[in-house]
Amino acid sequence: MKIMFLGAPGAGKGTQAEHTAQRLGIPTISTGAIIREAIKNSTAMGLAAKSYTESGKLVPDEVVIGIIKERLEKDDCKNGYILDGFPRTVVQAQALDEMGIEMDVVVSIEVDDDEIISRMNGRRVCAKCGATYHTKFKPSSDGIHCDNDGELLTQRKDDSPEVVADRLKIYHEQTEPLKDYYASKGVVKVVYGQKNVDDTTRLTDEAIDSIKK
Ligand code: AP5
Ligand code: MG
Repeated sequence: MKIMFLGAPGAGKGTQAEHTAQRLGIPTISTGAIIREAIKNSTAMGLAAKSYTESGKLVPDEVVIGIIKERLEKDDCKNGYILDGFPRTVVQAQALDEMGIEMDVVVSIEVDDDEIISRMNGRRVCAKCGATYHTKFKPSSDGIHCDNDGELLTQRKDDSPEVVADRLKIYHEQTEPLKDYYASKGVVKVVYGQKNVDDTTRLTDEAIDSIKK
């Protein structure tokens, strides 16, 4: 199965992708996570992407398209995968089409901008395994360490309020049009991202199961 999560920064794409990957046994391909890992390891791509990502701007299309092409060739993608954070522009969506890749379902997670801004403040992440928590809506057991590996949780550099505002603006201008792009292919399922993570998960499961082959 090929599943895509579409939605604003902080809508819950990563949270739902993490759950869906476990439930269906397919990998999540998150361009954001791949870029953050490259920055952490100071690779050439990471160094080139750093200033864009940390200021909330999109990394150039040719860079992320290259990342995706390389990643989707790996063996673990042969039974399906989840795309989280790609595509983000019409050019990126067209690149997927040109690769002959058709999604089975595009789950559009919709959350108001006001809710996003308050959510981002409380997000905490594990830099080691990539797990995502929230101080209020999805705390780890002790609130400060990752439940998977005990790492100290941190805040993402691009979660400061000013950067979040820029990311939302870019989302509305460049990424939101993809909803119509995929609606015209008949594959979009809308999930309203509730204040409760479990409710959103239930709606996401229903959306995916409704098209399961
Ligand atoms: P990326 O990492 O993809 O960030 P994003 O799309 O901005 O989305 P986020 O990861 O911030 O949010 P999310 O929807 O995954 O929400 P989450 O589940 O964490 O990209 C980062 C950067 O990399 C970009 O800005 C760009 O520079 C670059 N990049 C990446 N891909 C690119 C591309 N294709 N092209 C160009 N550049 C690219 O949830 C958020 C918080 O809310 C968490 O704390 C979570 O616990 C909580 N939460 C989740 N669901 C709920 C709920 N239902 N109720 C309450 N709280 C909830
Ligand atoms: Mg994410």
